[in-house]
Amino acid sequence: MEDEKRYLKTLESIMKKIDKKHLTEMGRALYIRKCAFCHGKDGRGRNGFAADLTRRISQESAKYTIQNGGHNFKKSFPGSMPPMVPEPSRAEVIADYVAKGFPNGHPGKTIFVKAYCARCHGTDGRGIRFRAPNIRHFDTSTIAAVLRNGKKGVIGRMPAYTHFSASQVTMLSYFIMTLSERPAVKIRKITTDR
Ligand code: HEC
Ligand code: HEC
Repeated sequence: MEDEKRYLKTLESIMKKIDKKHLTEMGRALYIRKCAFCHGKDGRGRNGFAADLTRRISQESAKYTIQNGGHNFKKSFPGSMPPMVPEPSRAEVIADYVAKGFPNGHPGKTIFVKAYCARCHGTDGRGIRFRAPNIRHFDTSTIAAVLRNGKKGVIGRMPAYTHFSASQVTMLSYFIMTLSERPAVKIRKITTDR
């Protein structure tokens, strides 16, 4: 038992010295082994089988949570999210604003504040510790919440991974964050005419 503890302590102190670039690469390797089966090697979610990790959240998923609330991440955000909002048309506008990454000039911007979303998620959507997750970008604490709790949503069920060490969660987060940093690869439309 003592040996095991000492081993883990040494391991974690070594992990701390590894730079972000290498941690990201280790995250990629772990992702391929543990996550690619559902999310795809490119992170795009295998045509709707799992979440597309190249973006924070889709309009459909955001709308689903707005209307139904959410209590997936209880261990990280104990207050949960109550079902919110008014008429479906307003829910759609806010969901679009969130899914597009909070663009300036979007009509959802004022509704996001007026509908009390900002009270929990912050005006910029970056979340508030213990209250609500970052819904603007993936960050380490949001990925940690997903892994710790799992998630059941409109797409399907994401299993919880409670056995990962802190550094494994960090490396997976770094890797997932790179998926949305890169601009999406443009796939040329395949045409048969000509
Ligand atoms: C009382 C605090 C609170 C309010 C108000 C609130 N949220 Fe949330 N929100 C949360 C919490 C907590 C979660 C995590 C839910 C869970 O555990 O599944 C969440 C989750 C979400 C998610 C899904 C994140 C994910 O990764 O699945 C979206 C999208 C979202 N909120 C958008 C909104 C919008 C838009 C509004 C306003 C209409 C809003 N929230 C209002 C607390 C709040
Ligand atoms: C058995 C299939 C499966 C595996 C394996 C899996 N996931 Fe998921 N994951 C899902 C599904 C399905 C969702 C979408 C849940 C929903 O919103 O309906 C999801 C959602 C997510 C999300 C988005 C959560 C959010 O807030 O919307 C993240 C991040 C994620 N997975 C990370 C991972 C990582 C990292 C791994 C590997 C350790 C992994 N997943 C392994 C099925 C899987």
